[in-house]
Amino acid sequence: LDVAVLVSGRGSNLQALIDACAADDFPARIVAVISNNPGSYGLERAKLAGIPTAVVNHRDYEDRESFDNAIDEELKKFKAKFICLAGFMRILEARFVNRWRDRILNIHPSLLPSFKGLHTQERALESGVRFTGCTVHIVRPEMDEGPIILQAAVAVDPEDDADSLAEKVLIQEHLIYPEALKLIALGRVSISGNRSIIEKAEY
Ligand code: GRF
Repeated sequence: LDVAVLVSGRGSNLQALIDACAADDFPARIVAVISNNPGSYGLERAKLAGIPTAVVNHRDYEDRESFDNAIDEELKKFKAKFICLAGFMRILEARFVNRWRDRILNIHPSLLPSFKGLHTQERALESGVRFTGCTVHIVRPEMDEGPIILQAAVAVDPEDDADSLAEKVLIQEHLIYPEALKLIALGRVSISGNRSIIEKAEY
């Protein structure tokens, strides 16, 4: 499966995907890394791994539609068949998302549907939950919604602050994101309404 990864920031999830794809038997490969932010460290990570990059700076576009179209152009250019959002901080419009229906994955640092949006760890702490975690899901036009592929739970300790919690959650993100992509690339995931069904492996 030929995948493009969209990043805005430090790109640690991108790195986890790069590392997973480096294994000979991994069923996906990253054909491009695209960022809206020319300063994203994700672009450096891609270059270090020998992966082509592109910058589509949202500031250069009048509206979301033309920005989305420019992303689409890059995706076509690199012949990407699937998209992984990895800390991509722009909202993609419904038209774009529907064009790529069931072919966009996102990772979010909470157990969705709890704590959509930003400042997830602060809000998890404030709410007093004993467990939080991360979610890999198929992207739908509504932010942080869509069929869940994998989740991992993390216990909230009394001494946790937002940073320590984010750190623990991030370790799990780096495990489940490549795993979710692998399941999809192997064709083991089917989507039914808001649920995904993962076929058991045959041995
Ligand atoms: C991660 O916590 C991810 O869940 C969220 O944004 C953060 C990106 O981190 N969507 P990185 O750029 O992958 O290091």
